[in-house]
Amino acid sequence: MVLKRVLAFAFIASTAVYAATFDVTFSTAGHDVPPTLYGLMFEDINHSGDGGLYAELIQNRAFQTVTPGTSAALTAWAALGSAKISVVKSSSPVSSALPNALSFAVASGTTSTVGFTNSGYFGIPVTAGWTYTGSFYYRTPSPPATKVSGSFTADLRSTGGTVFTSATVPFTTSSTWQQATFTFTASSTQTSVENLFALSVGGSTVAGLTMEFTLISLFPPTFNGRENGFRMDLSETLLDMKPAFFRFPGGNNLEGETAADRWAWENTVGDLVDRPGRVGDWGYINTDGLGLYEYLQWIEDMGMEPIMAVYAGYSLNGASVASSGMQTYITEAINQINFVIGDASTNAQAAIRASMGHADPFTLNYIEIGNEDFFSPTTYADYRWADLYNALHAEFPQLHYIATSATSGNVPTLSPTPTYWDLHIYSNPICLTILKDFFINGAFNFDILSRNGLQFFQGEYATTTENSGAALTYPFIDGSIAEAAYMAGFDRNSDIVFAASYAPLLNHVSSTQWTPDLITFSPNTVIRSTSYYVQQLYSLYKGDFYLQSTTNTASSSVQWSVTRDTSAGQYFLKVINTATSANTVVFTLPFTPSHTTGTGTILTAPSGTQNTPTSPNAAVPSTFSFTAGKTITYNAPGLSLSVLVVTE
Ligand code: AHR
Repeated sequence: MVLKRVLAFAFIASTAVYAATFDVTFSTAGHDVPPTLYGLMFEDINHSGDGGLYAELIQNRAFQTVTPGTSAALTAWAALGSAKISVVKSSSPVSSALPNALSFAVASGTTSTVGFTNSGYFGIPVTAGWTYTGSFYYRTPSPPATKVSGSFTADLRSTGGTVFTSATVPFTTSSTWQQATFTFTASSTQTSVENLFALSVGGSTVAGLTMEFTLISLFPPTFNGRENGFRMDLSETLLDMKPAFFRFPGGNNLEGETAADRWAWENTVGDLVDRPGRVGDWGYINTDGLGLYEYLQWIEDMGMEPIMAVYAGYSLNGASVASSGMQTYITEAINQINFVIGDASTNAQAAIRASMGHADPFTLNYIEIGNEDFFSPTTYADYRWADLYNALHAEFPQLHYIATSATSGNVPTLSPTPTYWDLHIYSNPICLTILKDFFINGAFNFDILSRNGLQFFQGEYATTTENSGAALTYPFIDGSIAEAAYMAGFDRNSDIVFAASYAPLLNHVSSTQWTPDLITFSPNTVIRSTSYYVQQLYSLYKGDFYLQSTTNTASSSVQWSVTRDTSAGQYFLKVINTATSANTVVFTLPFTPSHTTGTGTILTAPSGTQNTPTSPNAAVPSTFSFTAGKTITYNAPGLSLSVLVVTE
């Protein structure tokens, strides 16, 4: 790498600050940029899965994991009219996975409308032109001798009772479970999401009856029109980043509070009635309707590749599975991988995948063994890593295995020696490091590492506090630009950094466990943070080849990176200015551009700027033109990330 650095200072009297000029030359030497470099890290946190990416609108749809008879079991549900509702353990459940049901009791002599409502995941969007697809299971545990037939009305309504769209759903009493399905289309868009799904019926039809309901489901149109699919606007927001990979399902949410609570793939596949759900590690019920198959299908639809984690015998209560107990989890991991890539004609797990609609194997190259196992490094180093790695590598030698723990200096002290290693960085005051400064100072963290075959995955990172140490609710421009400076180090070191992803990804504005997050959403809005735009610009202008340039020092206020899209003949000059005042960068190109005018994109905003629900577009990227010649002089505004595109 060329280490020549030329710095010239100029005093600007009017603003009484020193602006610097940085002279940058680059050659055609460099290294490939791995196609995996920029992607997404996902786990169900902040209702990012249930209530977020997973498009299901009904919260607590199957009363999974709740205690019957409690008011908590009725979360999101309310009775309509004089009906009495409660959650019961059904004497004849719809499936062994779903033992509970909503009991709906109507007193004899009732004539007025009765039913029940669901308030969704902190609201329900009503959008003109959307056709909603609904279904539910119902039965009458003690049906009358003479069958009763009638019709429910399924609708979307305001909390004040104005009905926006509805469907008639015929029913007949029977002690066995029946499934009803319906659709309705909204003709108006409601600004407010304080709406309800309601199922109601004339009281005289059901007077004296007690009925049970479960798996009461309502989907809006989904991304790519998939059944049991993903929310469109969130998917499109992520697609706009052109992410290369999707790390899932955790994060902490892989691990469970105990081993028994872990994310277990086999509970997340097959028919929805066969998925018990679990209490996720972020304190709310995971329906597991967003299961392994749904993840993989959506990843494929999005043009990403999975980085899939397997449980590695460590849970959040701090306990590790004993060496003698590891075989259960080794078998589970092998089965999980076979579900993804096995031959459906010979492998039972792959046959489940085929039965769900994907006979061909999904793409799978990377397996992460655990998550943050540095919380139990001894057992990871003693046996957990080796047990899993050896068994999985023997079965699937073509896959790459990522370690998450056990380091001595910059080398994982594990045997077998890993070739992939996941690092997480949330800098915060407890680390006695000022966050913004950590990311600026860290821009050269990877430059000093040996090129010894070890590949790094920056699987989680974010600026989480202001420089004062105050916690951030949303990313702010100062932190986002600091992340951009750090990311110049990813570009430059992409010979050993094969992947990087900001975390956490998504946050439901009404149910937050962790801030800041890349994207905040409500049932009908999506807020792209300043850090989102940084991630997007790096991903869109990743290129396929990194060109060595004169480098700056860590802690300097200006960083840069030059990459190339070889087939397009385009060069991406990224300039990051973490100072609050402008600085100038002069690029000397090894060629004369074919176009004398270039187009750039810039993200910049005054210090402290955040994109929030009340000010979602406080900072958004804009485009500009610049004069392109063999020399390009660029004046980078304070707190900015700019990408100048030059055509050879
Ligand atoms: O991203 C939030 C959490 O941070 C993840 O679940 C965990 O891996 C890390 O500690």
